[in-house]
Parts: sequence; C-alpha cells; structure tokens
Amino acid sequence: MTAIDDPVLVVDFGAQYSRLIARRVREAHVYSEIVPPTIPIAELLARRPRAVILSGGPKSVYEDPAPSVDPALYDSGVPVLGICYGAQLLTRQLGGTVTRTGRGEYGRTRMSLMAPSPIFVDWPAEAEVWMSHGDAITQVPAGFVATGTSTDAPVAAFHDAERRLYGVQFHPEVVHTDRGADLLERFLYDVCGIAPSWTHVSIIEEQAAAVQAQVQGERVLCALSGGVDSAVAAALVHKAVGDQLTCVFVDTGLLRAGEAAQVEDTFRRQFHVDLVHVKAADRFFGALAGVTDPEQKRKIIGNLFIRIFEEVAHDLGAGSASGGPTDSDGSDGPRFLVQGTLYPDVIESGGEGGRAAHIKSHHNVGGLPDDFDFELVEPLRLLFKDEVRLVGEELGLPHEIVWRQPFPGPGLAVRIVGEVTRERAEILRAADAVVVEEIRKAGLYRELWQSFAVLPAVRTVGVMGDGRTYAYPVVIRAVTSEDAMTADWARLPYDLVERIASRIINEVDGVNRVALDVTSKPPGTIEWE
Ligand code: XMP
Repeated sequence: MTAIDDPVLVVDFGAQYSRLIARRVREAHVYSEIVPPTIPIAELLARRPRAVILSGGPKSVYEDPAPSVDPALYDSGVPVLGICYGAQLLTRQLGGTVTRTGRGEYGRTRMSLMAPSPIFVDWPAEAEVWMSHGDAITQVPAGFVATGTSTDAPVAAFHDAERRLYGVQFHPEVVHTDRGADLLERFLYDVCGIAPSWTHVSIIEEQAAAVQAQVQGERVLCALSGGVDSAVAAALVHKAVGDQLTCVFVDTGLLRAGEAAQVEDTFRRQFHVDLVHVKAADRFFGALAGVTDPEQKRKIIGNLFIRIFEEVAHDLGAGSASGGPTDSDGSDGPRFLVQGTLYPDVIESGGEGGRAAHIKSHHNVGGLPDDFDFELVEPLRLLFKDEVRLVGEELGLPHEIVWRQPFPGPGLAVRIVGEVTRERAEILRAADAVVVEEIRKAGLYRELWQSFAVLPAVRTVGVMGDGRTYAYPVVIRAVTSEDAMTADWARLPYDLVERIASRIINEVDGVNRVALDVTSKPPGTIEWE
C-alpha cells in the first residue's frame, strides 16, 4: 500500500485555492490530489480517500449554477474539511444557513474561539486568520457546533466531531493565517488518523517502482535540456532502471555559461548515465543566419532540435515516424520516452482523463513531434515544482541544476535582439554569467524568478582609455514573479547593479554600456523577444 493509493482529495472550486491546499497537505507529508467538482461520487469514493477537502472558490453558493458536490459524501464516513466556499457549501447542503450579508471580510481578521475543537489545539482565544468572503455562515446545520466567530463571519469555524465534518470560513492554506499549517496537520493526523508518510524518499521509491513496472526490461530515452524538470526526471528514471536509460543532450550553442559542462559532469561522470551529447552549435547558428524575427527564430530552433533528436533516436534504432523500433544490431531501440511533465500540467490538461496519449508538441525546445511512436514515462506527473526540486536534491543532483531559474526553450536566442551569431551569443553568454554570479553572491538568486542579461541590436558610443568605442550595450533584466504570467521588475540594490555593470564592461569584450530594465509585465514581457 502506497500513499498514492489512498489520497486526500481536494475538490477544486477555484484553481488557485485548491492547488495551494494540495501543496500544504503534501507539505504535511500526506499525499493529496485535486479533483474537479464534476467527479461522480462513486468515482471519488472509489479512490478510497482518507479525507476530502472542499476548497474555496470565487462563486457564491447562491449562484446558479454553483459548483457543488454530491451530498452523499457527508454520509460516506470520509472526513470532510470545507474551506471558505467549501464550508458554505457544506453548511447549505446539510441544512444550515448562509446569508448574503452584503458585508464581506477580506484580509487579516481576528477570530475568537467559541468552543474547543480538535483542529484548534493550543490556539489562543483570539487568532489572526485570513478571510476572503462575501456571504457568511449564520447558522450551523443540526448536529454541528460553532467553534469560532469574527466580526463579519458569525460562524467562522464549526464541526460535527462525531461525523468528522469540519468547516472553516477562513483560509488555513495561506501563510497569513497564524497556525494554518498546524490546523491542517491536526485535521489530517488527529481527526483523520493519517500518518505523515509522503516524503521525498517515499516519492522516489514509489515512482522508481512505477517506472520499473512500466518499462520492464526495455530501453528508455530522455531528452535533457539542462533545466530542473528533465534533469530530475532523468535522475529518477536512472535510479529505477540504470543503464536501460539513454539521455540525449543537444548543445544548441544558445545555452547559459557552463550548462553543457554541468550536464556532462552530472550525468556522465557522477551518475554514469549513457549520454549522447550532440554538439550542434554550428547547425543552429547556420540555420539562424540572417534571421531577425523572434517567432521565426523560435520556429527554426524548435524544428532543428526535433530533427536532431530524430536523428539520434533513429541511430539508436528507436521508433520514429518512419523507422521501426529496431536497432542496427537487430535489438529493439528505445520504445519509452521520459518527459518531465509536472502536476500543474496534468491538472491543466484535464487530469488523468485528459491525458494525451502521445507527446504534446509545444513551442519549447524539447517539445517533440506528435508522430513519434513512443510510450511516455512521466515520473514527475504527480509533483509540484517545489517537490521536484526536493526530489532532485534527494537524488543528489547539484544545487545549480536543482535551483536553476527557468530558461526559455529557444535559449539565449530570444535574449539576443536581431541576428543571432556565434559572436553575439558569446558576448551575451559572458555578460549573463556575470549577472548570475553577482546575483548569486548577493544571495538573491532564489528570490528572483529570473535574472539575466539581454543583448540589444544597437551599438552606442563610449570612451575607454584613450579611445572611442562603438560597442553593444547589455541590459540587466531581473524580475520577481509567482508564475511568469505577471512579473515585477526587481529592485536590485544599486551597489549590486554597479558591480554587475562595471564587471561586464571590464570583462566582456564588445560591450561598453549597461542599462537596467525597469519594466513590469504587463506591459513588458519577461524576455525581450
Ligand atoms: P515572457 O517573455 O512571455 O515569458 O514574459 C514568460 C516565461 O516564459 C519563458 N519563455 C519561454 N519558454 N519557450 C520557452 O520554453 C519560449 O519560447 C519562451 N518564451 C518565453 C520566459 O523565460 C518566462 O519564464
């Protein structure tokens, strides 16, 4: 029996709430998954959940239609915790009262405890909680007791201890709720009796066993990008099936400084992975000669990457669109392909039901054509990004890979405005290395979503020593963000900006000026192209 076999299910009434709840439950070392409210009750119960958490959401229970769950859930014996919208839904479905008071409560609020509760162990009589609601629960259903109240939430917490049904109007999953994590732990451990067994070690063991069961004795192929997801996926599969795994790493000439060497070092020398390192910079610079349009660059790079991957797969006898999966020596080539798909991608594509049978082709380098006849191995498909990083550390991957900031598939090409040449890529790579090194030294690397250098397509006049220069400027781009959909420009300390600027100008030939990008997204994008 593994943790995955009997999960805590979070019913999703609003994506950002349910994701955060699922992450918090996992941080308590309990495996959780998100399910849509449309899931039939029989299917939900067939998952044998140890508990069900009803998430918050943007709707009112008075809206028609308002998302709901089958009230048979409350008679199933499975413990339930309703949060915000989920608590109001539970109240309404069990005969309590939710009122449109017209006075909402948003942000930090003080809640007074009215009665003891197993989820409020050692709480102060008044606690700070985070509220975000319009409607309010004004009367608990029969058999329930109200355990907390606030100014605009007459019932801020309530339960029926015997049936193990709990509700809280506030959000225990956000950090602004004092003791929110403790509340979730008390619910999971004490009320539901779940043992905290979902750890990085158990994740690795479970996923390695699943990979072994899937691929049996067959060969497996994995495209490494240098990024964290593909690296962790490869390391996990390697732990599971050892030398059945072949990794392919295409050096496009558009990677960050030291990235190719790091992949070599880690996978070939440290992990002893069978690594095909394709040094393809000439081909990429050749294909990009004279091209200045950003989308055109992306297309060229994506297509060439796929062509190279196909060549390698073909050489290995793997199943491409045309060739059969037979090696030149008559043995079978790899039939399995590793992808670093993460749980948010799975949720977005509609969960298990919406799972694409084939590889989805996207704009990323590493996005492979959909006519490849591979079966996918996705050892990270149950994990959030922060779990992937911790698993990566546990597997012994170096910090630089595990904590690397996101890097676009087309690489430095979308940071070189105008034509991408080998010379310009070298200039940018050297300048970027200075930015990253100084940001790391200042202890800001993990705090920033991305921090890098950009090379515009202009040259400017300068004076160095006795002479006039006419060289490129470099732009420092550093942003904070949660998800890359929006971003704020990072307020880097001026002395750090100065250090970066003077080092770039002194150390990087071809650069005589440094500027700082102070544009947020929107209106700017993070990348310059
Ligand atoms: P923008 O520039 O649109 O970027 O604000 C948002 C995030 O996406 C990354 N990005 C890409 N990633 N292929 C990728 O794999 C691309 O073509 C691409 N363009 C942008 C960017 O680095 C940022 O994290």
